[in-house]
Amino acid sequence: MAGEINEQRGRSFYDRHYKTGGWDYSFWREYRWHRRELVKRFGLRRGMSMLEVACGNGFHTNLFHWMGFDCVGIDRSEAGIGWARDHYPRRTFHCCDLRDMPFSPGSFDVVVARGCSHYHYDLMSDISLETSESIMENVKPGGVFIMTIATDLSGRREPDQIWHNTLEGYRQHFRSFGMQWSVDWVDGMAICGLFNLPESRPKAETNASTRERVLEPAV
Ligand SMILES: C[S@@+](CC[C@H](N)C(=O)[O-])C[C@H]1O[C@@H](n2cnc3c(N)ncnc32)[C@H](O)[C@@H]1O
Repeated sequence: MAGEINEQRGRSFYDRHYKTGGWDYSFWREYRWHRRELVKRFGLRRGMSMLEVACGNGFHTNLFHWMGFDCVGIDRSEAGIGWARDHYPRRTFHCCDLRDMPFSPGSFDVVVARGCSHYHYDLMSDISLETSESIMENVKPGGVFIMTIATDLSGRREPDQIWHNTLEGYRQHFRSFGMQWSVDWVDGMAICGLFNLPESRPKAETNASTRERVLEPAV
């Protein structure tokens, strides 16, 4: 359906894509970006347990290992997970849906989702809210869920294209969980954090003044 997640089409697209190797990332470019925008921004420490959901063919799960995290990857694409297991045999991957993951609640200090389709469309839809809810079940008390996704912030919604959600859309989504949150935008990417910590002060004060920052993209 136009402008919404088309699960079946998505599955076959990714299966084909990963069979031919997926995206061609530069290891060091990704390393530097994630060190700056995830590790430093969220104060992550080496040795933390990490889950990457929607890990595709495992490139970033392996990268996060190199950065010092004990990182496990999950994706529902059999081709993606097959590639990941073949190319990163020392890492752990599970082929499953992110709404039905094989972990005990609160198993991870950090859960990361990069480019997960559920955040490309209606951010207040049941599917998008349920996605964050299932992810948060895996975050330890005091831990954080970090979601990064491309958007030009225009609010554009074209048929059969991803939506370019606004920062207000992301704020509304993450605010609805009643936990501490942050929403930033850097290099064309929304970078959002949802902390497994109750909000200790009124939302407007906690979030707008202390947690929320918008950075201009690098030119
Ligand atoms: C745009 S790709 C991003 C892949 C990878 N994170 C990256 O940045 O290269 C989106 C991924 O989300 C996965 N995905 C979508 N819905 C999912 C779900 N419900 N459960 C698990 N994985 C899902 C797809 O299989 C695909 O690999």
